[in-house]
Amino acid sequence: MTLPAKVKIVEVGPRDGLQNEKETIPADIKIELVDRLTAAGFANIEAASFVSPKWVPQMATSAEVMARIHRKPGVVYSVLTPNMKGFEAALAAKADEVVIFGAASEAFSQKNINCSIAESIERFRDVAQAAKQHSIRLRGSISCAFGCPYQGEVSADSVADVVRRLRELGCDEIDIADTIGVGTPKKVQAVMERAATEFPIERLSGHFHDTYGQALANIYASMEVGIAIFHSSVAGLGGCPYAKGATGNVSTEDVLYMMNGLGIDTGIDLGAVVDAGQFISQHLGRKAVSRAGNAIAAKRNG
Ligand code: HMG
Ligand code: MG
Repeated sequence: MTLPAKVKIVEVGPRDGLQNEKETIPADIKIELVDRLTAAGFANIEAASFVSPKWVPQMATSAEVMARIHRKPGVVYSVLTPNMKGFEAALAAKADEVVIFGAASEAFSQKNINCSIAESIERFRDVAQAAKQHSIRLRGSISCAFGCPYQGEVSADSVADVVRRLRELGCDEIDIADTIGVGTPKKVQAVMERAATEFPIERLSGHFHDTYGQALANIYASMEVGIAIFHSSVAGLGGCPYAKGATGNVSTEDVLYMMNGLGIDTGIDLGAVVDAGQFISQHLGRKAVSRAGNAIAAKRNG
């Protein structure tokens, strides 16, 4: 299959990227990060997460972040909402999209959201209905679609089963997520193709963590089978609090560098993303986890 002419990159750094940071990051820094990403041209930014602050303390400032970011008309600002409490907060925060997040692995579902896959779907039902009532976009995310830190192997059938259940809830978009970055290209293609038997492929997305260095290869392989939405994190930030050893999402700078080289339109200014990556890395006191980002920054400084 030919590669897509255009892809949508969903920037998840402010949420997936920052959620696992141990030191509390001031809301002002998070807001500046989102504003810089908005200016860089993303059409969709995952800005915050309305989850229990006891479970994920770093996301406790989500309401403030959502209230004070400078929104650009047309940009979709998404937030995670595991239950109705999260949804009510998302509604008050005027989120454009809410994300219900489940897993293809029972063990991970228990660790991450404290319930079974079946129970999670029941909790999501109310959130999904409320989102529809308020005309808010609904996205579903499926963790551990290529492997689980607790149970190991995850079958393509169990991914497809959750895709079907999320479709039935009315999801506009569904993410197939490699939470611990263990997927490799052929397996990724097989899972994406299986998922596409349950949901339109143009509304499926690839959410790859780069733990084993496979993320760019997996994105390329996904494009070969027709996926054209990808998640990435500025400066390669991230890690899931409930997946020990999992590193960040694939870095946005690396993805954009590859897309630019392939002549695939993203609508995003790579230079501005490099700046945003350097900004947040400086705040965190460490180097960005982005080959392209660091190379471009070094060339500028050199
Ligand atoms: P629970 O303990 O089963 O829930 O947690 P509960 O309903 O019994 O509530 C317990 C307490 O949490 C109560 O407070 C609730 O009010 C509060 P208390 O009475 O003890 O003071 N609470 C909330 N507070 C704020 N916002 C809420 C909320 N809900 C309950 N929405 C729950 C269940 C889902 C809440 C919990 O397990 C949780 O918050 N988990 C967070 C999981 C999470 O954020 N994980 C990281 C994001 S997922 C991810 O990164 C993967 C992804 O990137 C894709 C991939 O890479 O795989 C998306
Ligand atoms: Mg993730």
